[in-house]
Amino acid sequence: MRFVLNLALISGESIIRLLALRLPSVQRAKHKKKHYMKSILAIGASTSKNSINRRLANFAANQVPNGQVTLLDLNDFNMPLFSVDLEVELGSPKSAQLFKEHIKSADAIVISFAEHNGSYSSAFKNIIDWASRIEGKLWEGKTLFLMATSPGGRGGQTVLTSATNGYPHMGGNVSAEFSLPSFNANFIDERIVDGDLKNEFNKQLGAFVASI
Ligand SMILES: Cc1cc2nc3c(=O)[nH]c(=O)nc-3n(C[C@H](O)[C@H](O)[C@H](O)COP(=O)(O)O)c2cc1C
Repeated sequence: MRFVLNLALISGESIIRLLALRLPSVQRAKHKKKHYMKSILAIGASTSKNSINRRLANFAANQVPNGQVTLLDLNDFNMPLFSVDLEVELGSPKSAQLFKEHIKSADAIVISFAEHNGSYSSAFKNIIDWASRIEGKLWEGKTLFLMATSPGGRGGQTVLTSATNGYPHMGGNVSAEFSLPSFNANFIDERIVDGDLKNEFNKQLGAFVASI
């Protein structure tokens, strides 16, 4: 600052030269931001081997420009059924800590929920219960794109609404949500084929990308 003031005392012309010198570096910074890779965590909230929600989460995450996708398989996060007594006895399972680390290291997160009896799959809920006991809010302020799909006509809307309402209270910045009904008719060759659903998906994807 003192350096700049001294220059101002020398002459106005020097200041103009100084500003001109700074311009290229401002342009360089913009250029850098454009190519910055974003780490996107994709979660299919199901343990099904051929989970349709994992496929949808993977599809959505891979649409993010400059995204580097990590797709989780919940089968890699084995842990006992949560209980406060077990927690006192064992502490936090390694798998729950690893799940939390994935959240922490992501720039943004895409989740597609399997709906079981109107709610989360047991395995996902169990992981969430364990991970939510680790320090800090579960979603760590991360930008979330929440989705659900099912073979039925409601597309997991009940579990999606529950997560959309609940996750802001758990440190999630829910920037977009999308439900894909009748998965088998609407998702063919790993893409959404219905025009209206595709438009709605792209609108939500745009909102997600804009807030990362
Ligand atoms: C125990 C159980 C409960 C289910 N309950 C619902 C439900 O409430 N709503 C729904 O749309 N589909 C329900 N389904 C069907 C799932 O949507 C379907 O199995 C779907 O493939 C789950 O997603 P996934 O392939 O990602 O696991 C249920 C399936 C199971 C096994």
